[in-house]
Amino acid sequence: MWSDVPAVPHVSLGRWADVVVVAPASANLLARAAAGMSDDLLTASLLTATGPVIMAPAMHTEMWEHPATRANVATLRSRGVQVIEPAVGRLTGADSGAGRLPEPDDIARLVEDALQPPARDLLGRHVLVSVGGTREDLDPVRFLGNRSSGRQGFAVVERALARGAEVTAVVGTVEVAPPPGARVIAATSAASMRESMLAEQARADVIVMAAAVADFAPERTEAIKIKKVDDRDPDPIRLVRNPDILVELVSHRSAGQVIVGFAAETAASEEELLSLARAKRERKGCDLLVVNDVGGERVFGREDTSVRVLGADGHVLVEASGAKSTAADAVLDEAAKLLPPLPPARG
Ligand code: CTP
Repeated sequence: MWSDVPAVPHVSLGRWADVVVVAPASANLLARAAAGMSDDLLTASLLTATGPVIMAPAMHTEMWEHPATRANVATLRSRGVQVIEPAVGRLTGADSGAGRLPEPDDIARLVEDALQPPARDLLGRHVLVSVGGTREDLDPVRFLGNRSSGRQGFAVVERALARGAEVTAVVGTVEVAPPPGARVIAATSAASMRESMLAEQARADVIVMAAAVADFAPERTEAIKIKKVDDRDPDPIRLVRNPDILVELVSHRSAGQVIVGFAAETAASEEELLSLARAKRERKGCDLLVVNDVGGERVFGREDTSVRVLGADGHVLVEASGAKSTAADAVLDEAAKLLPPLPPARG
């Protein structure tokens, strides 16, 4: 680093790079970068970097959540460093939790964005997204839930932010952290998700119902824990239908508001998948329906996906496979085409 002085690599590398990516970024590196240290090639290059800097943290959950690390991340972000939220999952050793190195596809996507910023075609628009699964309480300790991880919903949130939108995320049960920059409203049950979505509807230009909403809830939620009785079969659990949030949103939509539904289906063939999707789009009345095949572990909780976006006439407008962010961009592309032009800026 210091020997070949005429080349001064600790200065030249940072200047030369169009973008700097630190992956993995340890807790130690985040601390040293936040403090502006420059005692090795990496930190010196960070101080001389002239282009965007992206850091992909990887560490144990306790380190990621420690106030010192939180403060370092906040400092770096305030200086414009893009610190990605770590993934949740298996860590080094037997541990698992938040702190896993983000997926290479997600890091690559941010590098692409840094090199060629996405069109800010949603600037001035409000996008409302429901994310994750819902949880219907049986008693104070038990619930009925589903396998939605929230990755697809958060991918829509992240891409809408990248394209300039103001984004509100109504978030149910999820396995991953929301991307920074969105306004987040927690809503765990289908009833609270409905309430939040309807309350937020009026401001939205685009609404994306990416959440996996429970169709049924227990008829009653016991106030005290349901106990087993040794010599008796358990009481059956009676379920009642939850309201369909998407259908309600469509019935209250304002002029020009674009409403997108999602459909996760298990189908034996492409034709069956599309005919289920067409029937669902008609039932729900949404402008766009994003359909994916979830048979056999194919989508839930995974990093990648394969979707088709159906228009109001039942035609497949676009197909997208790969990272969930690629699918999210395809959905937003179609939604953007349906938006009425923004009124001319005043003043
Ligand atoms: N949805 C909703 N409220 C519900 C159920 C579903 O808003 N109570 C929304 C989902 O967020 C999704 C779309 O409707 O955008 C389709 O969800 P899906 O579960 O596939 O539809 P269902 O009507 O429940 O159909 P199915 O009988 O196939 O479960």
